Amino acid sequence: MRIHRLDPDVVSKVAATEIIGSPVNALKEILENSLDAGATNIEIAVKDGGFKLLQVTDNGDGIDQEDLAILCERHTTSKLKTIKDLETMDTLGFRGEALASISHISHVSVVSKTKQARTATRAEYEAGKMTSQKPIAGVQGTVIAIKDLFFNTPSRVKALKGRSNEEYQKILDVVCRYAINYAGTFSCRRDNSGQPYVIAGATAKDKIRRVYGPSVANDLIEINLEGDESIGLKSVSGYVSNADYFSKKGANFIFFVNDRLVSSEALRRGIQKLYSQYVPKGAFPFVFLSLKIESDRIDVNVHPSKREVRILDETEVVDTVVAGIEQYLSNQDAGRKYKVQSFIASSSMPINSVDRPTAAQKYEHHLVRTDPQQSTLTSFARTPIKPRENINLPPSDEESSESSSIPPSNDHQVLEFKPMALASIAALKQEISDHSSTKLTKIVTNHSYIGLVDVSKSLAAIQYDVRLYLIDYHEMSLHLFYQIALTDLANFGTVSLGDGLAIADLLEISGKAVKPSPMLLTMAPMLQDYFRITVKEKDNQMVLTQLPLLLENYNLPVARLPDFFVDLTQLEWADEQKCLGGICMALAKLHQPVAPSASEVETILNSAKRRLVATNQLGSSIVEIANLPGLYRVFERC
Ligand SMILES: Nc1ncnc2c1ncn2[C@@H]1O[C@H](COP(=O)(O)OP(=O)(O)OP(=O)(O)O)[C@@H](O)[C@H]1O
Ligand SMILES: [Mg+2]
Repeated sequence: MRIHRLDPDVVSKVAATEIIGSPVNALKEILENSLDAGATNIEIAVKDGGFKLLQVTDNGDGIDQEDLAILCERHTTSKLKTIKDLETMDTLGFRGEALASISHISHVSVVSKTKQARTATRAEYEAGKMTSQKPIAGVQGTVIAIKDLFFNTPSRVKALKGRSNEEYQKILDVVCRYAINYAGTFSCRRDNSGQPYVIAGATAKDKIRRVYGPSVANDLIEINLEGDESIGLKSVSGYVSNADYFSKKGANFIFFVNDRLVSSEALRRGIQKLYSQYVPKGAFPFVFLSLKIESDRIDVNVHPSKREVRILDETEVVDTVVAGIEQYLSNQDAGRKYKVQSFIASSSMPINSVDRPTAAQKYEHHLVRTDPQQSTLTSFARTPIKPRENINLPPSDEESSESSSIPPSNDHQVLEFKPMALASIAALKQEISDHSSTKLTKIVTNHSYIGLVDVSKSLAAIQYDVRLYLIDYHEMSLHLFYQIALTDLANFGTVSLGDGLAIADLLEISGKAVKPSPMLLTMAPMLQDYFRITVKEKDNQMVLTQLPLLLENYNLPVARLPDFFVDLTQLEWADEQKCLGGICMALAKLHQPVAPSASEVETILNSAKRRLVATNQLGSSIVEIANLPGLYRVFERC
């Protein structure tokens, strides 16, 4: 067969159908043009799934009247000038191809007015050329109408026949995704139906609620990750479903890279794999993430419909994002096992007599164990916790220490997770995520413990990657226990103190002239419900009989109990946030280790691995002291 030159009209149509495969592609192009023009109010009208009409009305900058003549010509754009600009492209469009392509396979009309223009102008286009132009009345912004899409490409019409419903759903999906990422109001009207579907809201979460409903919005974790300069990742923000969210409808991934809607198979796979460790089989996550990456590290010119971008160091970027989300998920309140532990193995109070489970509480065989690292109660009941400080504790009784060998079915109980929806707690958690440091969290999450360096300065050595760090475990444990107290609120296991400790005696030991506050009794129900701190009146004095269990296999430093009660007497009980935050902080201080053994430090660091969101305040507590490349440089020179 002989080779011949194609007719330019055929070339244009072939090129156009490559970029515009279906109505949703055309809609995405004109919607992105409106966003590039800075529009904050975008109205979309769709008829017959977009085959008959696709119209976008925006309040953006408008098109200069003198530019209208070449608007639909191929390679005419206000965005890209030189090939170098592609490296720093911050607009969604750049090729000057979209409207040209669309005009070859539909009838295009434009009404536009810039701020400076006295009137709006209406122009019509066929096959890239303007066919008419006239001034009309109008406000600032642009209306682009695409009529009879694919009217001159019958094969495409045949392929898409009878799909107007599906096409409309795809269009709506793209509009909703953009509406979630961009501020402003978006609306979509179908076939002149009465009311348009409006997506508005102050935050992305409001819009997610509007689009996907409260069942998704109520189970979201807000993500805010700091960037990593070494891979050009500036920030990651968004919302992801928590481990309680259960959708069988399939995963919903919405990814934006530099505000461009993209599909990223690598991110999708990484996140899906992560969720498989947190949600039951058959459940799928909802993920909306907006990644900001140095623009010279992404290539936007990869796909004709611009739905993919190539990212330099993509694997590292994906790993960083996945590790960041994992940190949030592992800190999430739900899906954990809650246990009861006796403070003193010899306590006269048998372990199973505390908090008998009610009918609503679940037993272990009904629970999905989500953290294989958590040991069962029996494993630590065999190594009873001994009081290490000289404090008046209930008398020990050798025989009753046999309680440690109570069969597993009796000696532990698993309490059902009670969600806490207090605004004050949410605000305290928010404070932590506002100051979170991805870099430090990454070090803590992925470290290997090396050993104790100096107990007097509470320093331990850890390794992360090829770097050696000194960590102030005393300071770090304050953050860790505070965060555990906040996230486990109302869901703690308990540490029983047997007959109890007299609070007045404890305060006396503190050496500070403080009396037991009557508020401890007034607020006893709250202390019990939220914190499992049991304060009772016994023989005319206040006694403490129970404390929350913040960390298994960890010896609570009882020497800190006097100061704990000094802290409690200074609480601002009337202010919910200050009061709850104050108790969490007092509990954190109570749990800070006193002269710990190497294995106790390891226990704390292991817990930090799973649960700590390191904040910037820990910057001076985690210090790099050596790194392998540096050492090589020094020693190779010797
Ligand atoms: N809604 C709009 N508001 C303001 N200007 C617009 C609008 N739509 C199009 N334009 C102008 O028309 C030009 C051509 O648009 P077109 O979509 O064809 O190309 P592009 O956006 O520059 O690149 P791409 O082909 O990658 O989308 C744009 O560069 C822009 O200047
Ligand atoms: Mg464009």
